[in-house]
Amino acid sequence: MSEVKLTVSGISKRFGDLEVLRSISTEINRGEFISIVGPSGCGKTTFLRIIGGLDTAASGEVRLDGRRIEGPGTDRGFVFQQDNLLPWRDILSNTEIGPEIGGKRSPEQRSRTMQLLKLVGLGGFEHYFPRQLSGGMRQRVNLARALAVDPDLLLMDEPFSALDAQTREIMQTELLRIWEEGRKTVLFVTHQIDEAVYLSDRVFVFGRRPGRISEIIDIDLPRPRPLSIKRTPKFVEYVDHIWKLIEEDVRASVLEEHTG
Ligand SMILES: Nc1ncnc2c1ncn2[C@@H]1O[C@H](COP(=O)(O)OP(=O)(O)OP(=O)(O)O)[C@@H](O)[C@H]1O
Ligand SMILES: [Mg+2]
Repeated sequence: MSEVKLTVSGISKRFGDLEVLRSISTEINRGEFISIVGPSGCGKTTFLRIIGGLDTAASGEVRLDGRRIEGPGTDRGFVFQQDNLLPWRDILSNTEIGPEIGGKRSPEQRSRTMQLLKLVGLGGFEHYFPRQLSGGMRQRVNLARALAVDPDLLLMDEPFSALDAQTREIMQTELLRIWEEGRKTVLFVTHQIDEAVYLSDRVFVFGRRPGRISEIIDIDLPRPRPLSIKRTPKFVEYVDHIWKLIEEDVRASVLEEHTG
């Protein structure tokens, strides 16, 4: 039996006159990997921020393990599109910001951090500074930092979009490897449909603003998934299917952006 981790009930959100989210409800199980795709401006980031407790909904509620979310907490870890590492701190102390704020400074925490940095492939780089790292390495630090508080839920908003195509693919396989080890529940926003299919148990397709979940696609592909799975007919079929679902919305939102 799968166990419900996150319950979203009737979340709505507006910014002034702009209706961004309309009554979104869903349930996510413990250990599930969920991706969210949808046209630009449909409210994906807003949705993630509400779950993260960084923003509040006008109505509805979000519960994590039955507890109502009312603000940020160490039970949730965030990874954003742009890394927001502190340039004056080395990798080790950047990774430890979360536990530090939570008052958890200890030798045990330190050895956990070292382990995490190894896990994301940065063993040996503990005393480098952000400016000495590539974009891919900086996003690995971001991931380690989000994991450092040992969150139940990992919220990732286009974490790999600033990376080149090859680095991005490597990060995808690394993320799956890390996820398979710890089985965190993950909510992952991306514009790249093949990334969503590759990573996920289910893909939530968001419709054009006001955002709502217009379709949920179960990705029935075996795990572990080698990168070569992306060339299998079944994989390509999933990507085509999802692309067809959002194509019109994406076109409309691109035109809207260009015509103002
Ligand atoms: N703090 C804010 N104040 C006013 N409007 C906002 C604010 N944050 C977001 N919006 C608006 O809400 C809508 C949804 O924004 P959001 O960032 O959630 O979209 P998104 O789906 O993440 O888009 P993208 O794919 O481009 O990242 C947009 O029209 C945006 O302009
Ligand atoms: Mg966004």
